[in-house]
Amino acid sequence: MKYDSVLKQIKPDKYEKEKVTKLAGKIIAVLNHLAEKNDIPAEATLVGSVAKGTWLSGKADVDIFLKFPLETSMRELKEKGLYLGYECIKKIGGYGEERFASHPYVTGKLEGYEIDFVPCYSIKSSKQLKSAVDRTILHNIYIQQNLKKDQIDEVLLLKKFMDSVECYGSEFKVGGFAGYLCELLILKYDDFEGVLNAAAQEWKPGLIIDLENLKTGEKFSEPLVCVDPVDENRNVAAALTLKKMAEFVIASRNFSNKPQEDYFSTRNIYTNPESILKQFKQRKTKTILITFKAPDIPPDALYAQLEKTKIALTKKLVDEGFMVEKSSYWTNENDLAIFILEFVLWSLPAYQKHWGPKIWNQVHQNKFLEKYGEDAYLDQDRWVVELPWKYEDAYSFLKFILAEENIHHLKTGKQIKNELRRTYKINDIDEVISDMELGVLNFLFKFLNPNWHLWR
Ligand code: UTP
Ligand code: MN
Repeated sequence: MKYDSVLKQIKPDKYEKEKVTKLAGKIIAVLNHLAEKNDIPAEATLVGSVAKGTWLSGKADVDIFLKFPLETSMRELKEKGLYLGYECIKKIGGYGEERFASHPYVTGKLEGYEIDFVPCYSIKSSKQLKSAVDRTILHNIYIQQNLKKDQIDEVLLLKKFMDSVECYGSEFKVGGFAGYLCELLILKYDDFEGVLNAAAQEWKPGLIIDLENLKTGEKFSEPLVCVDPVDENRNVAAALTLKKMAEFVIASRNFSNKPQEDYFSTRNIYTNPESILKQFKQRKTKTILITFKAPDIPPDALYAQLEKTKIALTKKLVDEGFMVEKSSYWTNENDLAIFILEFVLWSLPAYQKHWGPKIWNQVHQNKFLEKYGEDAYLDQDRWVVELPWKYEDAYSFLKFILAEENIHHLKTGKQIKNELRRTYKINDIDEVISDMELGVLNFLFKFLNPNWHLWR
């Protein structure tokens, strides 16, 4: 397949390149000036895809790192790094806020671009690593030295393909391929088609990619291992889930069988409440939504807690005798979070058989009879008692488990726990679907069509 017309759309043109480069240059100059003026021993430097020339047109996030000498204390690095970020935003005129990933940083919007100001240590080798983000500087140098000019297009094709099939990004929400991993895959397999062919034909969980022959791949246990060329103790694919690895393999096979330009654009979902309700109805299941206020925490933490809570909720329901076919969650990453639970079995009979001991062991039998007395009866030679079922349907169980005095039985995330308990509402999907924002409809569409992004 020829990729010219795809590249035309995804490759930044001269105008965009100039604009981004100029903005980055301006920011760095302002930062370095501020540092000098305030006697802060930091040096600003451009990293990430803009520095490497591997950003997708219109999607530049400018990653600026503030390098501090190794002897700087973590406290000082944080304090002065954040100060420089804020001051720079003030000076150029934009909006900024503090974020905490594994590491504090400032993110701002300047001239329409998202700019991250990340304080780090100025390291020369991974042996000197002091904070989680220090490697980035080394990544940058490695890619600039090893990625050939004509391979930049290949990186862009791979990033865009992955983005379209929803495998791009190492954040928890996606669990996919980071930008740096895409670049390393191109180094390994030469070009876009090389990566796709390898994925389609050869990839299996346990695959080790070790470009610099550092021989540490065995010590990682994730489904795909890509030993970081600049740090033998780091798996660049650590965030990739088995599911996303499998999805990428399938998308690669589908593309190889039927290459189409359409694979390089995001598919729009066209749906409406009526058709979603119709599909749910045809499934003859019972589907409910638990809506609540999302706690104010960073997206990675929020999604991780939603995942944990979803698993815990589903397990509790199943332990209680209900059958959950599928469950999932969604959030607008602001003030709304939703669990969706689709039940095959939603309500239970009023009584439940509770098995006791055989009659031959009198010690055991007496214990059982002490508890259940004359309600107990025999099934062959074994005591049984019929107990009223505690929860007539899943709704009453959910109300029970989400109550203040019981929610500690549920392994939710810490911040989710409070908001869930205080603000939850349970509704049948057809009661609330018409009030839902577009994002929720798209989510419900994907819930019903879980493979739609892999095919064209
Ligand atoms: P970005 O997520 O901004 O990646 O992280 P990117 O390479 O700039 O790609 P875009 O923005 O999606 O086009 C910035 C840098 O942080 C390091 C990499 O060095 C990356 O270049 N990083 C980030 C990782 O090593 N692993 C990650 O999972 C994320
Ligand atoms: Mn970036």
